[in-house]
Amino acid sequence: MSRKAHVVVVGNEKGGTGKSTVSMHLIVSLLGMGLSVGSIDIDARQATLSRYVQNRKSRKDLAELGLRVPDHVALPPTADREADERRLTETVRLLGNIHDVIVVDTPGSDHYLSRLGHSFADTLITPLNDSLVDLDVLARVDPETMRISRPSHYSEMVWETKKTRAVRGEKAVVDWIVLRNRLAHLDARNKQAMEKLLEDLARRIGFRVVPGLGERVIYRSLFLEGLTLLDLKHGIKGFELSMSNVAARQELRQLIDATGLARLAKAD
Ligand SMILES: Nc1ncnc2c1ncn2[C@@H]1O[C@H](COP(=O)(O)OP(=O)(O)OP(=O)(O)O)[C@@H](O)[C@H]1O
Ligand SMILES: [Mg+2]
Repeated sequence: MSRKAHVVVVGNEKGGTGKSTVSMHLIVSLLGMGLSVGSIDIDARQATLSRYVQNRKSRKDLAELGLRVPDHVALPPTADREADERRLTETVRLLGNIHDVIVVDTPGSDHYLSRLGHSFADTLITPLNDSLVDLDVLARVDPETMRISRPSHYSEMVWETKKTRAVRGEKAVVDWIVLRNRLAHLDARNKQAMEKLLEDLARRIGFRVVPGLGERVIYRSLFLEGLTLLDLKHGIKGFELSMSNVAARQELRQLIDATGLARLAKAD
């Protein structure tokens, strides 16, 4: 399937790792670069991303502040699996023809729509809570030696999607990016253990580790307003930028830079 858009899938089979949070911030950031963005919520039963877009669209000051919104499609699963899969494929095709980027938010579970969604990824972003428990979704770690014994389900699923792409006649290369989310400033031992294991695993199963996001209230507090901290530069009354917000913005910028997606804006 040839398309204009670069597809970014935000995925991790584990729940609550920050997929929707990363999706929202990524979308607003890409819109801020002047790119036209389509977004798809495959996790439309929970619908976090869809609610966020809705909250943003409902703002009365949207036009006045020049806040941009993505062309959003929610795809709640129905009882008809084949129809769901056709709808997702068609949505990627349609949005892919008219936008620069598509961001796909996926559920925190193994689901057929999520698997199909992953197969469209040019870039896959996997947020991981900063704990050894969450690492388990990528690999089994031997607790005695703290070494990786084998890749686990999710890594294998990502591998499998390459075959699906090959069958569709698409290139199999996916830029797989793993980032650690909710980084705590304390807990240096856990941090070091995670760093080492992630490095090993990155080499073994072929992803890159990029700078992560700290645990910060600002990443969740603007949800109901339909905003992210990236919008605060517009000077929205009651939402002034604090010092800790500046650090968060810096963190986000590093993440976006590391994805390399800014080149899409330059290519225009
Ligand atoms: N860096 C962060 N700092 C503070 N809170 C965060 C951060 N990242 C995520 N959260 C909060 O953690 C919770 C889970 O995040 P989110 O909904 O983005 O995860 P998810 O992976 O999409 O979950 P699910 O698998 O259920 O879809 C939310 O309440 C979110 O606001
Ligand atoms: Mg979510």
